[in-house]
Amino acid sequence: MSDNKTPQKTTDLHIGTPAPGCKKKDPILVADNIKKSFGGLTAVDVAHLEIPKNAITALIGPNGAGKTTLFNLLTGFDTPDTGEWHLMGNSLAGVPSFKVAKMGQVRTFQLTKALGLLTVLDNMKLGAKDQGGESIFKALLPGTWRKQDDEIGEKAMELLKRFKLDAKKDDFAASLSGGQRKLLEMARALMTDPTLVMLDEPMAGVNPALTQSLLDHVLDLKAQGMTVLFVEHDMHMVRHIADWVVVMAEGQVVAEGPADTVMKEQAVIDAYLGAHQDTDLGVVTGRIDIIDEGGAK
Ligand SMILES: Nc1ncnc2c1ncn2[C@@H]1O[C@H](COP(=O)(O)OP(=O)(O)OP(=O)(O)O)[C@@H](O)[C@H]1O
Ligand SMILES: [Mg+2]
Repeated sequence: MSDNKTPQKTTDLHIGTPAPGCKKKDPILVADNIKKSFGGLTAVDVAHLEIPKNAITALIGPNGAGKTTLFNLLTGFDTPDTGEWHLMGNSLAGVPSFKVAKMGQVRTFQLTKALGLLTVLDNMKLGAKDQGGESIFKALLPGTWRKQDDEIGEKAMELLKRFKLDAKKDDFAASLSGGQRKLLEMARALMTDPTLVMLDEPMAGVNPALTQSLLDHVLDLKAQGMTVLFVEHDMHMVRHIADWVVVMAEGQVVAEGPADTVMKEQAVIDAYLGAHQDTDLGVVTGRIDIIDEGGAK
């Protein structure tokens, strides 16, 4: 199935031996000493983590490892007990989520947050970076506001076309399938022209018919120069599209490295993969070479 659409893995991302907290040649996000406890439970305790720029990094680990909590902390949806982190050198500690998004770091949710009683198009418009109508000064100049609203609408429609949701623009988001809602969330995240896109379980609950489309969209983000950090339990998706894999267990980063090597490490198998490594994606993605999968085509 080799063809010119087969995605190339980005290699040579790190400095030194791949190990928890290892330095990257060109990090987009650098986090230090991020800790979060809920009562007596330490949900996240990450000493140092660097996410490589313009690559696809998968964050894996067993249920309850702290992956979603780490996403919440890094994107300003929750506050850590300690820690600091920087997006391209800009500190994000204490920055609220909407400002984090404006600074270029967006995320989607494990349980999609599309607003069911808004139309697909209105959900997209809500994702826009700078809603001119919010400013009183601009509100006094409705011409300016309308021009921006038109531009937002055009951009929303372009993205909806790309995600094949344009025919559904006037439907309530609640009427979409789980997979379509995941696509809508990804499309909405792109309204702000982000540099770092964080996806929490983009494949969870997605009908196999939409799997290829989702994988392709994630690969396209990288092709367009964006950086992707995604949480995923589907090990086939991780193997096929991740350039780099970070493994969490019990709040800590326990391993990291290129996808093909890190998933063979004993610590990773012990922490996680034992129960998952034979899970099959079950679809032909068309765009992805399936290597060493024993007939998984
Ligand atoms: N708001 C909260 N209050 C109390 N405990 C929480 C809260 N959020 C998360 N936790 C706990 O923190 C730990 C980490 O949870 P988290 O949701 O980050 O895990 P995860 O790696 O995303 O798991 P999954 O793969 O199941 O989504 C779990 O033990 C969870 O029960
Ligand atoms: Mg989670």
